[in-house]
Amino acid sequence: MTDDRIPLFDGSPQMQAVWRVIENIADTDATVLIRGESGVGKDLVARAIHARSPRRGDPFVKVNCAAIPAELIESELFGHERGAFTGAYRRKPGQFEYAKNGTIYLDEIAELPLALQAKLLHVLQDFRFSRVGGVESIEVGARVIAATNRDLEYALRRGEFREDLYYRLNMVELRIPPLRERREEIPVLASWFLARFNEQYGRQKRLSSETMTRLTGYSWSGNVRELENIIRRMVVLSDGEQAFEALVAGGRCGSTATSPGAPIVTESLREIARRSAREAERNALAEVLERVHWNRAEASRILKVSYKTLLNKIAECRLDPRSPRRRGTPASGGWSPPNARS
Ligand SMILES: Nc1ncnc2c1ncn2[C@@H]1O[C@H](COP(=O)(O)OP(=O)(O)OP(=O)(O)O)[C@@H](O)[C@H]1O
Ligand SMILES: [Mg+2]
Repeated sequence: MTDDRIPLFDGSPQMQAVWRVIENIADTDATVLIRGESGVGKDLVARAIHARSPRRGDPFVKVNCAAIPAELIESELFGHERGAFTGAYRRKPGQFEYAKNGTIYLDEIAELPLALQAKLLHVLQDFRFSRVGGVESIEVGARVIAATNRDLEYALRRGEFREDLYYRLNMVELRIPPLRERREEIPVLASWFLARFNEQYGRQKRLSSETMTRLTGYSWSGNVRELENIIRRMVVLSDGEQAFEALVAGGRCGSTATSPGAPIVTESLREIARRSAREAERNALAEVLERVHWNRAEASRILKVSYKTLLNKIAECRLDPRSPRRRGTPASGGWSPPNARS
């Protein structure tokens, strides 16, 4: 049952069930909706479906709907004719055309603007589309797989996602459980990543059974991606195991009481309040961004600010995905996302 590229898909009853569905639907044309938190392996599942389908000789094209500005996404998906809009100097095919008879994977589908949701629905019903600014009707050859880590039912209720498109995409729904609900996979995954990174970086790192127990008990809000990153750090850094211990400790005790040796207060109460608010904001921002692996659209939703405000705040706080998060002192002992079920 094991796959060459994805050797660990049968490590738990939940993933065995996912795998059975993949095998059953791979050779059909059914649209698939893959759901699950960030980092659970949705991309791998999409690629596995394609690799097992008769379409595997054709391209697998991934489009991240959250990464493309709203005004460009129609042309990105369906292409445009010359002169369709300012700057359209020549005809450009879209990703649906590039995918040919392969698979088009629409990642973060919930971010698709409503007008585009309507067009996608028509395309999925008629199996035809036209380029932006064009009249020629082009046949869709590709199979559509969509994915989201958002609560689509909530988006439906808020009118942010079209119900008809939801039912059209949902022909087959695959829910990938978070890693904390399939803990038996953790030791297998950890050992597999360890072997892979040892080979890649020419190391001979080992994991003590104590560390393995800690890894298995950890909450993994970033799922398999977080586990993969931690193991990579353990292999690459000389103090890698300590880094993991610090992470576990940081997750458990986010707040620190004022130490007896704290400096004497020299600011006015107003200054203290302002500075604390700024610090709290920065820490929350850094924490959320880290948890969602710098998926800014997701972070803006969690923090309930517009995408633009979030970008401004990131710039204001001088946060950078490459710099490690400065561990702050949130008042309530650590933040967890609203949908975390640990
Ligand atoms: N079963 C698995 N075996 C090996 N590696 C895995 C497995 N599941 C996930 N991974 C690895 O974890 C990382 C995250 O997986 P993936 O990108 O598929 O997650 P995702 O659900 O698409 O996340 P996002 O919602 O953030 O896009 C990848 O590097 C992937 O290779
Ligand atoms: Mg993904």
